[in-house]
Amino acid sequence: MQKALLKWNGQEAEFPVLEGTEGEMAIDFTKLRQQVGLVSFDPGYGNTASCKSAITFIDGEKGILKYRGIPIEELAEKATFLETAYLLIWGKLPEPAELKGFLRQITAHTLLHEDVKRFYTGFPKDAHPMAVCSAVVAALSAFYPELLDPRGAEAEHGAIIRLLAKFPTIAAFSYKHSIGQPFIYPDNKLDYTSNFLRMMFATPCEDYRPDPVAARTLDLLLILHADHEQNCSTSTVRLVGSSLSNLFASISAGINALWGPLHGGANQKVLEMLESIEKGGGSVEAFVEKAKSKNDTARLMGFGHRVYKNYDPRAKIIRKACYEVLNKLGVRTKLLEIAVKLEEIALKDDYFLSRRLYPNVDFYSGIIYQALEIPINMFTVLFAMGRLPGWIAHWDELQKDPDFKIGRPRQIFVGPTGKHYLPIGQRKQ
Ligand code: SDX
Repeated sequence: MQKALLKWNGQEAEFPVLEGTEGEMAIDFTKLRQQVGLVSFDPGYGNTASCKSAITFIDGEKGILKYRGIPIEELAEKATFLETAYLLIWGKLPEPAELKGFLRQITAHTLLHEDVKRFYTGFPKDAHPMAVCSAVVAALSAFYPELLDPRGAEAEHGAIIRLLAKFPTIAAFSYKHSIGQPFIYPDNKLDYTSNFLRMMFATPCEDYRPDPVAARTLDLLLILHADHEQNCSTSTVRLVGSSLSNLFASISAGINALWGPLHGGANQKVLEMLESIEKGGGSVEAFVEKAKSKNDTARLMGFGHRVYKNYDPRAKIIRKACYEVLNKLGVRTKLLEIAVKLEEIALKDDYFLSRRLYPNVDFYSGIIYQALEIPINMFTVLFAMGRLPGWIAHWDELQKDPDFKIGRPRQIFVGPTGKHYLPIGQRKQ
């Protein structure tokens, strides 16, 4: 075991250096405060490993992403989303009988309890669907009290199946509520993404057949969003789960963290950005200058990443799929041309190159969602649908972690000192 030596204030202390299976190294600071009376300071945790994990590996320098050791490119080409969900959660690709049983369980639980429908009527029509989905997911804990024990294998399995099975229904119902249309119940003869598309776009008045190209494209996007190691929302799910909060409550917290425009909310912001460039006469160069300017709050949404300092491998796959899907669906849009032009200009500009800012998963995904006629305020809901198995896998890994402890970071206090209570009469007016 390698060691790191810390010299401080006339003291010396050695700390073990851990090595991961892909060669990443970390100083084990679990005894730092105890040994030298110091804490580490790392706002945003850019240099801090919160756990050991066997789920997803990212090499940000080389633009590599693997789920349980399998490259994302192979899964994108050959797997289905539910197969990938099984891989992430249970650590292996399912054998035929396992996959059959898993699909049967998912199909058997797509319906929502009839009382859950009443939650939707309480929301205003223009409520953002992320608010609705996080509320309804948290509410499931009230409908399945027998599935709340994070340490009960049966309970946990039951909660996992219900979340994966019901999330498309919850999401589609939030859209139907927002447009005042009747809820379309799941059709258990359909596959996962076809079922979702039907619940989104069918009406009781006419037949609706989901387009197989659209269903397969959605399945691909869900695979690409399925996990991404310790990102903001996954770390949120882990932190909430570390207090032994139930899975429904932990996932609801993850949905809320994902909603932010710096995280999963970026896919909606990218499309709004592309549409504003198109409406404003399409000057891409002018927008890039705004995104670079410190005096302007504009950012090139969908660009940059805390870990990838190279092209996000997911963005590469989605960019290629854009052309194929728009072509197959016969969709014409200027937004793809604008996005490609933005990328071209940015990747020749020293501002982006020097900061190693490349397209991330959100840069092109919205163009495909729009081609599938998904409304823009549902984009981040689809990100959550994709990320659900990743959140579940990390929550489960945490509960079984031999290093398990409640998450509770330290701080450096920089507030006032030596103050005393002043009676109200002595306080300055
Ligand atoms: C996701 O963590 C994950 O894995 C997330 C995710 C997942 O799958 O879970 O990959 C999904 O959230 C992707 C990211 C989606 N967000 C966006 O596209 C929003 C735009 N991007 C940025 O806000 C930013 O790049 C972040 C939030 C993604 C990363 O932020 P960091 O790592 O904290 O970097 P930073 O904000 O400190 O930026 C470093 C520099 C700054 O300039 P200087 O202070 O050095 O002068 O780069 C600049 C930033 O101003 N910068 C950008 C920029 N992103 C960073 N400038 C213009 N446009 C941008 N998009």
